[in-house]
Amino acid sequence: MTRAAAPPSTALATVESPVGKRFDVLGLGCAAVDDLLYVSSFPAADKKVRVARSVRRCGGLTGAALVAAARLGVRCAYAGCLGTDEQSQHVARNFSDEGVDISFAPRLPEARVVHSTIVVGQDSGSRNIFYEDDGMIGAHPTLPEEDVIRDTQVLFIDHLGMPGNLRAARTARSAGVAVVADFEDEAGPFFKEVLSLVDHLILSEEFARRITGQPDAAQAALALWQPARAAVVVTCGANGCWSVSAPTTVAARHHAAFPVPATDTTGCGDVFHGAYAARLACGEPLEERIRLAAAAAAVKAMHGQIPRRSVVEAFLRANPHVGTPPAARVGNDVA
Ligand SMILES: Nc1ncnc2c1ncn2[C@@H]1O[C@H](COP(=O)(O)OP(=O)(O)OP(=O)(O)O)[C@@H](O)[C@H]1O
Ligand SMILES: [Mg+2]
Repeated sequence: MTRAAAPPSTALATVESPVGKRFDVLGLGCAAVDDLLYVSSFPAADKKVRVARSVRRCGGLTGAALVAAARLGVRCAYAGCLGTDEQSQHVARNFSDEGVDISFAPRLPEARVVHSTIVVGQDSGSRNIFYEDDGMIGAHPTLPEEDVIRDTQVLFIDHLGMPGNLRAARTARSAGVAVVADFEDEAGPFFKEVLSLVDHLILSEEFARRITGQPDAAQAALALWQPARAAVVVTCGANGCWSVSAPTTVAARHHAAFPVPATDTTGCGDVFHGAYAARLACGEPLEERIRLAAAAAAVKAMHGQIPRRSVVEAFLRANPHVGTPPAARVGNDVA
């Protein structure tokens, strides 16, 4: 008799960290202050426009990922550079409010967080981003101490502070700490080596296609695979994502996104990364990590807020059969 497949779980398993590890996820890359200005429609040049609403948010590839992971209940720390200016203080307060440890973040007068002013046209939802990234940003070249890097289950990096990212990724690799990364910029002499040290490489389709020259996300995921990695994931917004991992590395597997009425997809990729890192620290298999990451990102797309664990669990209870592990799907693989 054939047994029916067990339904996918909707409760997130309790974190069980190996004894002695201080953190589950330690992040070193970009932390940012985003000032969003909402206008009725995006203006042509030389116009005077009334701002309908303004919101200040903390973001950044690593910053938002850490908040997403912390809201899912894992122990997170940010140890990239923070300054003494008002925006750095705002980011520091936000991390503290979210339970993200900043005791190992170097506080230097010359350091800055990224500051973006984002003008959103409410009629179309389209936006332009004006960003400032002066000062020392992202990972510090020599801090935190190597012991701190060894004392986490997952190291999270992005493309800011590449000499520091390289040092930290080497330390993590030699200590068996999993390196998870998001990149949006391949410039500079360190990118290639840092890329080679990433265990879990999660990139947007646009960037993955750009650095591989491949025509689609599945082919780009395959091109980024190398045996030293644990997984490559290329995300495609509402079209889900493609993954490559051992032992099936001749084909990329498709993972559907949860179909939701999206109102704000800004930062969905960051939430996906943070949830993936959180569930990796919990020891979950790839298919479940991706399903949970897609669920957290879908809730972000729907409600505009980075969801807490109870909200993701409720969403999964309401949507149990969507985004099921790709093993349960047939015909999605590509050669
Ligand atoms: N409209 C949407 N509906 C449902 N899920 C979505 C939607 N947009 C994104 N997601 C989920 O979030 C994941 C990551 O999204 P996406 O590929 O847009 O990231 P990104 O390009 O890095 O975006 P960003 O960096 O701006 O956050 C997708 O694979 C999908 O699971
Ligand atoms: Mg992204």
